[in-house]
Order: sequence, then structure tokens, then C-alpha cells
Amino acid sequence: MPEILQDTLKDSLYLPQPARIVDVKPMTQWEKLFKLELPRGVSLGHEPGQFVELSVFGVGEAPISITSSPSRSNGSFELCVRRAGDMTNVLHRMQPGQIVGVRGPFGHGFPIERMRGKDIVFAPGGLGLAPLRSLINQVLDERGNFGRVIIAYGARDPGELLFKDELERWSQRSDVELHQTVDRGDETWSGPVGVITTLFPKIDVHARNTVAVTIGPPVMYRFVLMELLGKGLSEGNIWLSLERRMKCGVGKCGHCQINHLYTCQSGPSFSYAEIKHLGEAL
Ligand SMILES: Cc1cc2nc3c(=O)[nH]c(=O)nc-3n(C[C@H](O)[C@H](O)[C@H](O)COP(=O)(O)OP(=O)(O)OC[C@H]3O[C@@H](n4cnc5c(N)ncnc54)[C@H](O)[C@@H]3O)c2cc1C
Ligand code: FES
Repeated sequence: MPEILQDTLKDSLYLPQPARIVDVKPMTQWEKLFKLELPRGVSLGHEPGQFVELSVFGVGEAPISITSSPSRSNGSFELCVRRAGDMTNVLHRMQPGQIVGVRGPFGHGFPIERMRGKDIVFAPGGLGLAPLRSLINQVLDERGNFGRVIIAYGARDPGELLFKDELERWSQRSDVELHQTVDRGDETWSGPVGVITTLFPKIDVHARNTVAVTIGPPVMYRFVLMELLGKGLSEGNIWLSLERRMKCGVGKCGHCQINHLYTCQSGPSFSYAEIKHLGEAL
């Protein structure tokens, strides 16, 4: 078994470990895919749905979801990063060979063991495909353990669709039902136009045997939840990720707190049943 990153953090949970950028791929105008490698063959040892605290030395640190799946780690892992502010703007100018800092993996991932044998509806919106891709590929790599795999993906416009090559591959698989939509079409787009919820009337589910996982901007959750509950899914079978402003990532600073929950530790993935009573959650 390779050594995992958490085992190397003996001195301090706050001390980033160096990781080398081995590849950078532009994805859209705003997002790039970074492939990182830890030293001495150390493995990240993550679960789908977890995040790392990523730092650019001398600039800053931010939580970023791990977009690669454990089943495809091969000694490296991937982060899909949107250019949003101080740290991510500098990161976007970095090249293969340069070193960044990584702490983690932190948080609770999705309970994949409770999804085995079930049909799964994945409903990512925009950048939400980045964290969900980790779980989707894990499920596809052990495809025989799951029922139907349905992906309903919504982006603002065709230029903002992430992982286009992978979407194309999923669309060609007979064991994946892929539905995509964009809020605004253009001359390159011949698919449906409308927000993500316009895809749901086309999707029939057997509610009792279906789990749904949705990740997207906060505004999307309320409407996607209404659709999933309307199809009869139980509150405990609907999973989502709560991304709050985080600093420490390890339950110390309180930045990510919602009522009594530290979302960095108890989450970021929660079932709807766990968080529906928390007024500030959704
Ligand atoms: C669990 C988790 C997973 C995430 N996964 C990803 C991912 O996979 N990919 C990704 O690209 N992003 C992800 N994010 C979001 C990412 O952490 C933020 O965008 C982060 O702020 C970027 O850091 P930065 O230094 O570049 O930007 P910042 O300098 O922090 O600025 C980002 C934006 O936030 C605003 N801002 C800064 N400070 C504050 C404040 N105190 N209050 C209100 N607004 C403020 C800025 O004006 C700017 O608009 C994730 C966040 C969480 C919590
Ligand atoms: S980020 Fe510090 S407690 Fe959650």
C-alpha cells in the first residue's frame, strides 16, 4: 500500500505538503484542469466528494474539490479550478514543474457504499461537475455494482461546459443516460436550451431504488430538490455538497459553520434529510 498524504502530516495539519504540477489543461475561459503529484509516490488517499486546501506559496490558500476519482489516481490527482480571486488567478499562470501546497484530503465524501445496487441520478450544475466527476468515474469504474446511471448536466452556455471529451464518451455509452442543457444556446449548440430543471420531465425514475447526487450553485439546489422530491425520492437518498467559505478545513476556525455544523468536517456532502432543518443551509 502506498503511503497516504494524511500519514505524512505528523507535525501539523496546517502545514501544506509540496505537490508538483505535472499537467495543465485549459477547459473554458474560466477553468483549468491541474494534474498534481505528491513527492516520493505518496498517494492522496481520497474519497469522491472530499476536498484539499490548495495553496500558492506567498499568495493564499483555498478549498478545492478533488475532481479525479480514487479508481484513476495512478499516483496523481486532478483539480478543476475556476479563476475567481487572489490565489486562483496566480495558479492559472503556473506551469508544469512548479510547486504548490496541499493539505488534506478533508471532509466527508459521498457514501458510495450506500449507493451500490441502486440507480443513480447525477445532477451537476456548472462547476458542480468538477466534484461530481470524481464520483461519476468511480461508479463507471465499477459499473456492474450499480443500476441505471443518469446524468443531467446544466451549464450557462456551451462555452462553459466542462470536460467536453468526457461528456462525449459518456454520451456514447449504452449504460449511461446523459442529458445536457444550456441556459443560453449559440451556433455551436443543437441540444436543449433551458435551466437544468427542464431536463427532469424527460427522466423516469423508480423512486424507491434511486439515489440522487446534485452539486451546483446554491440557487440551483432549491429547484433541483423540488424536482427530485416530486419524483418521490426520499430525503435521505438525495445528496448535495455545501460549499461554505472555509479557512482551516479541519473544524477549528468556525468560518464554515452553519448552526452547529462545521461543513468542512461534517460535510461538504450531506443528505437533504440531514440539513433540511438548518435555516441557513439552503
Ligand atoms: C468545499 C469546497 C470545494 C470547492 N471546490 C472548488 C473547485 O473544485 N474548483 C474551484 O474553482 N473552486 C472551488 N471552491 C471555491 C474556491 O474555494 C473559492 O472560489 C476560493 O475563494 C478561491 O480562492 P481565491 O483566493 O482565488 O479567491 P478569493 O480571493 O477568495 O476570492 C473569490 C471571490 O470571493 C470574494 N471574497 C473574498 N473574500 C470574501 C469574503 N470574506 N466574503 C465574501 N466574499 C469574499 C472575492 O471578491 C471573489 O469574488 C470550493 C469551495 C469549497 C468550500
Ligand atoms: S473551515 Fe475552519 S472550521 Fe471549517
